[in-house]
Amino acid sequence: MQTIRGFRDILPENIALWQKVEKEATRLFKQFGYEEIRIPILEKTELFARSIGEVTDIVEKEMYTFADRKGDKLTLRPEATASIVRSYIQHKMYAAEPVRKFYTIGPMFRRERPQKGRYRQFYQIDAEVFGVESAYVDAELVFILNELFTALGLSDLKAHINSLGCAECRPSYQKALLDFISTKTEHLCENCLRRMDKNPLRILDCKVESCANALTDAPATLDHLCSACDDHFNTVKRALEQQNVAFTVDKSLVRGLDYYTRTAFEILTTNLGAQSAVAGGGRYDRLTEELGGPPTPAIGFAIGYDRLVEVMEALDNVPTPDVLDLFILTLGDDATHKGYIWASELNRMGLRCEVDYRGKSMKALMKRANKLNARHVLIVGEDELAKNALILRNMTTKEQTDIQVDQVVDTCLARLKP
Ligand code: HAM
Repeated sequence: MQTIRGFRDILPENIALWQKVEKEATRLFKQFGYEEIRIPILEKTELFARSIGEVTDIVEKEMYTFADRKGDKLTLRPEATASIVRSYIQHKMYAAEPVRKFYTIGPMFRRERPQKGRYRQFYQIDAEVFGVESAYVDAELVFILNELFTALGLSDLKAHINSLGCAECRPSYQKALLDFISTKTEHLCENCLRRMDKNPLRILDCKVESCANALTDAPATLDHLCSACDDHFNTVKRALEQQNVAFTVDKSLVRGLDYYTRTAFEILTTNLGAQSAVAGGGRYDRLTEELGGPPTPAIGFAIGYDRLVEVMEALDNVPTPDVLDLFILTLGDDATHKGYIWASELNRMGLRCEVDYRGKSMKALMKRANKLNARHVLIVGEDELAKNALILRNMTTKEQTDIQVDQVVDTCLARLKP
């Protein structure tokens, strides 16, 4: 049996980087006042269709959707934002305290064509802030991403930012865009032609070469912002400049989900072959209301966790493997029994310690100790037990010390605890 296409195991030998990223991300979230939230993997299809948008690649082509035994239409979550908004509304969080900052980490599902950095089950590290319209929150999110990537040793990532306008200025922009697109129809793919009336903004995101070429001079949202959106975007830029966060204003950045308003951003890398995004996000000031909650400004991002780990691997930024503090090498039943008791006690007291219970020879056990990267080996054979002098061997210096049977736990703790 094999995993299904686009799904994969993350094996213990590859987990160190995943843990390093998670540790750093959760440290930062805590530091900046974000609370962890855990949301279901399965939701009603309608939630994603209404929030991400009916006429988007995700909803039209990529969701894992099925009817359950009662015929309810359910979908494996393709992202976390919609569920967090649902949760914010369902639990009436706005009533007690409208300003909330959340993070969540977990698997998402999209049936895309698998390739390096693109999977059908992939992981996101997601952050969302509710209840604040101020541009300083937009800057804070980009700042946090910058902090995280710098802490992880990734200095060559580029932040691209744009503003997509609001309900006020979007209609006049859409009109300008449609006027432009109407002159280019002969170059557009079928998908774009179909989307023209329903969702013209999506055409800007089309990856088909002829569409992309035809749209290079398309009007940009940035040139159609109302003065409130313009001020908002200027504040984001000014804050980031002052914080020395490098960014590029990218007029062509539209993002692939429909809920965005005002600031949108992506963090790009060239380390995964073609330029691709390791993180993306933006404001969605209307979504909470559209899903039945009170009007609530909100903004968030999601990091592609798999991609981030792959960029770190590409840069050889791999942590050194864990070492074992002590390997208790036991020969014979009595020794193995004692070894088991000591090892459990030492594990409990904070020492990484192992025994091999397979009854192997001295030579095989020494080999195993080396394989496990043991810093010390305690040799417990019949002779050593009879003489009440067990041998503690430092595997680096090769120095050996005798230890009495009733002193094992205390001595090992005193000498070996890191
Ligand atoms: P997104 O741009 O669709 O945004 O995804 C965010 C990140 O997830 C991408 O930049 C990419 O690194 C990663 N990603 C997406 N699809 C895949 C895949 N198939 N395989 C591996 N990695 C992938 C969102 O999901 C929004 N919910 C972000 C957001 C949060 N906006 C506001 N709040």
